[in-house]
Amino acid sequence: MEHDSHPLVQANRNPVRLRGFVRDDLPAIYALDQICFRKGISYSLAEFELLTTHASSFCLIAETAEKRLAGFAVTERTRRGGVISGHIITIDVDPACRRRGIGRLLMLALEEELAKRGARRCVLEVATDDPGAQEFYSGLGYQTTARLRGYYMGSLDAMVMEKKMTVAKTETL
Ligand SMILES: CC(C)(COP(=O)(O)OP(=O)(O)OC[C@H]1O[C@@H](n2cnc3c(N)ncnc32)[C@H](O)[C@@H]1OP(=O)(O)O)[C@@H](O)C(=O)NCCC(=O)NCCS
Repeated sequence: MEHDSHPLVQANRNPVRLRGFVRDDLPAIYALDQICFRKGISYSLAEFELLTTHASSFCLIAETAEKRLAGFAVTERTRRGGVISGHIITIDVDPACRRRGIGRLLMLALEEELAKRGARRCVLEVATDDPGAQEFYSGLGYQTTARLRGYYMGSLDAMVMEKKMTVAKTETL
């Protein structure tokens, strides 16, 4: 993981440090995901084990000065039709730490990392009943490109949102 030495960054009066995931983070990210998402959308511990260790995925941690988990995000790099893309798997911010710019910091750091790895666009899915998250992504430059029927739990639709990115460096998968 290449994000081990991110400096302390100021997120609206709330200093957090961005760093790469380590295995000891697993229980805390699982617990936060359980708070952030309803059953059926949240990931199991086993899924997080896979997501955080898979070669094409990476996870960024935002922690407070007291080393408490403030948020995290997981992404993967995929190649579809010859185009390298980033796919945001999840982004979770502790409810007590929201609206302080931490989600935005995590997204921008993920995008930077994906661009370094050759990604030309970043794609994500967001529930149609979550206008707050849709607004969050719109504010970061994501545009809705499709609707996936029953994507969540077979009954809740997802909007697909995408953003084009500048390629910083081209690498092969
Ligand atoms: C979505 C989420 C990651 C945002 O994290 P955050 O740290 O609160 O976001 P930020 O403070 O960086 O927000 C940046 C901007 O996005 C927009 N935004 C963020 N949350 C919003 C909300 N609930 N409603 C409307 N706009 C919102 C605002 O424009 C905000 O700027 P402002 O606070 O100056 O108005 C967080 O609410 C969360 O973890 N939610 C639960 C999990 C989730 O829904 N994840 C995404 C689903 S795919």
